[in-house]
Amino acid sequence: MGKIISTINLKGGVGKTQMTVALAEFLAMQHRQKVLLIDLDPQTNATVSLMDEKAWFKKDQKGETLLQLFKDKLEKTSVFDINKAIVKRVSNVGGGITNLDLLPSSLGLIDIQDSLPLIPAGRFYVTSPVTILKEAISSVLDHYAFVLIDCPPNLGIITLNGIYISDYYLIPCIPDILSTYGIPQILGRIDNFKKETKSSIEPMGIVISMFRAQSRLHKSMVPELKNRASLPESDKKWVPRIFDTIIPLTVRTADAAEFSAGVNTLKQKYGYGTVFNDYENLTNELLRYV
Ligand SMILES: Nc1ncnc2c1ncn2[C@@H]1O[C@H](COP(=O)(O)OP(=O)(O)OP(=O)(O)O)[C@@H](O)[C@H]1O
Ligand SMILES: [Mg+2]
Repeated sequence: MGKIISTINLKGGVGKTQMTVALAEFLAMQHRQKVLLIDLDPQTNATVSLMDEKAWFKKDQKGETLLQLFKDKLEKTSVFDINKAIVKRVSNVGGGITNLDLLPSSLGLIDIQDSLPLIPAGRFYVTSPVTILKEAISSVLDHYAFVLIDCPPNLGIITLNGIYISDYYLIPCIPDILSTYGIPQILGRIDNFKKETKSSIEPMGIVISMFRAQSRLHKSMVPELKNRASLPESDKKWVPRIFDTIIPLTVRTADAAEFSAGVNTLKQKYGYGTVFNDYENLTNELLRYV
């Protein structure tokens, strides 16, 4: 079975989605790996950057997004069909990347997420219903070498469903005081969840994102974080591995990330300069750690 990797940070807007989408595209296109991206975020950013909005809207109406999966549990129905929900060959690159599939999210999840704790907990479950996603996708997992999960900036029930099935999680992080402040909290909460549910997720590491080379603070935070990564895990200041690859803040062609702006190659999408190379390096580094 393939590796399942979640992208998590409780802080919003740190580049989780952009990084997850890029990793999915690079693994699928450059490395010819079969990839499924699961968009667990009700903001649906990954979904709309990988597929046509009208087609997605129709699927949502037909119950072919993650909304229906959770709705079924609330309403005791069984409309959701994983094989219909997964969209094959997604991305605005080359009219769709052969090895890249998407399990789309839905804005409707915003309305139902507060009711989710009312779903009766499963047989194996102590506190909350976190096995729903696992039950739904287990029949398709064998098709994929990688499943990447884009998480919303919280540890609500929908996110926990992703964490429950993950082998690893990546923490994209802006190297400033406020953004790094919450890392121990993420590590602690995920570790508690892992123990409570006897699941197996491990931190793969922190990826520094939106790095500003002109910022003295950003420059000083990188060695500081690396220092913390070398502490014993029992130390309160410990953080997991800091990826060597750093994703800079770039005023790049934002248009290219729009689904409607079709491009032929990843180089066209991510620019011929550094951004393409950075995501390529990030993908290669990730492959060393799985
Ligand atoms: N390296 C970068 N350089 C410049 N802009 C970026 C970079 N990474 C992401 N962005 C832009 O910043 C915004 C936030 O990025 P993104 O949506 O990936 O963050 P996020 O952590 O997923 O946010 P949320 O918590 O809301 O899900 C987006 O408009 C995205 O296009
Ligand atoms: Mg996001």
